Amino acid sequence: MKRTLWITLCAVFLGASLSYGNAAPKPPEQNWSFEGPFGTFDRKALRRGLQVYREVCASCHSAAHLRYEKLKELGFTESDVKAIAAEYEVPGPVGEDGNTKPRKAEPKDFFAHPYPTEAAARDANNGALPVDLSMVIKARPHGPDYVFAFITGYAKAPSDLKMAPGMHYNLYFPGHQSAMAPPLSDNQVTYPDGTPATVDHMARDVVTFLAWASEPEMETRKRMGVMVLIFLSIFTAMLYVLTKRVWWHIKHPS
Ligand code: HEC
Repeated sequence: MKRTLWITLCAVFLGASLSYGNAAPKPPEQNWSFEGPFGTFDRKALRRGLQVYREVCASCHSAAHLRYEKLKELGFTESDVKAIAAEYEVPGPVGEDGNTKPRKAEPKDFFAHPYPTEAAARDANNGALPVDLSMVIKARPHGPDYVFAFITGYAKAPSDLKMAPGMHYNLYFPGHQSAMAPPLSDNQVTYPDGTPATVDHMARDVVTFLAWASEPEMETRKRMGVMVLIFLSIFTAMLYVLTKRVWWHIKHPS
């Protein structure tokens, strides 16, 4: 009985340490303007990040929770948004043949999907599914640090690791074998504001954009939090003064 217990404990310990060894390392911490209680989104970085998403990531990844009209919050005008939406097609009304006819997207539409079905997406990506990016920053531990580390974390596979066909070695992806090829290379996009389009810059910008996409109301929430704290401190001070006064009268009855 005792022996079985020991063997089970050893097996659990060995299993845990092996799986720990295989786990991806913690991504390095980055400085993000949107972190901390006073964090805000840098509007220029958001617009550059949208550009990287549209020109690089959107060919494989949807961002289905975002509507085109939401882009007005990044400083785009009504007609800019109309023009951006019109570059995409979304499923339209059902035609006489029973199939939906694609139509030009409008500002009220959600961002268009790059593939018509999940099967088509897997088919084009070595069997793996490119996740929807609208919530990915919230959905992964160490959200922005992880996504930044993942999209920039490609390296040559160690010689003792047998890579499956079509997979790419990534330092931060759990299991280290990712079906996503390195998505970014220097000067892949041309930023209109003259910012050099290095891999590092593009990755930072697209992560900032995805962080905004996963919580566009973050700035309002944080501002509200600060207001509540200010209110509570004033309220506490007032209560303190009031309590002192009440007790003064009780302690010094005239
Ligand atoms: C050619 C297609 C393609 C492009 C372009 C692409 N990806 Fe991916 N991406 C994939 C696939 C496929 C997966 C799934 C990987 C897997 O499961 O092995 C993936 C997975 C991911 C994940 C999830 C990782 C995880 O922890 O599950 C993130 C985040 C991501 N991509 C971000 C991006 C960003 C940001 C861009 C643009 C800079 C981008 N991708 C461009 C195909 C692509």
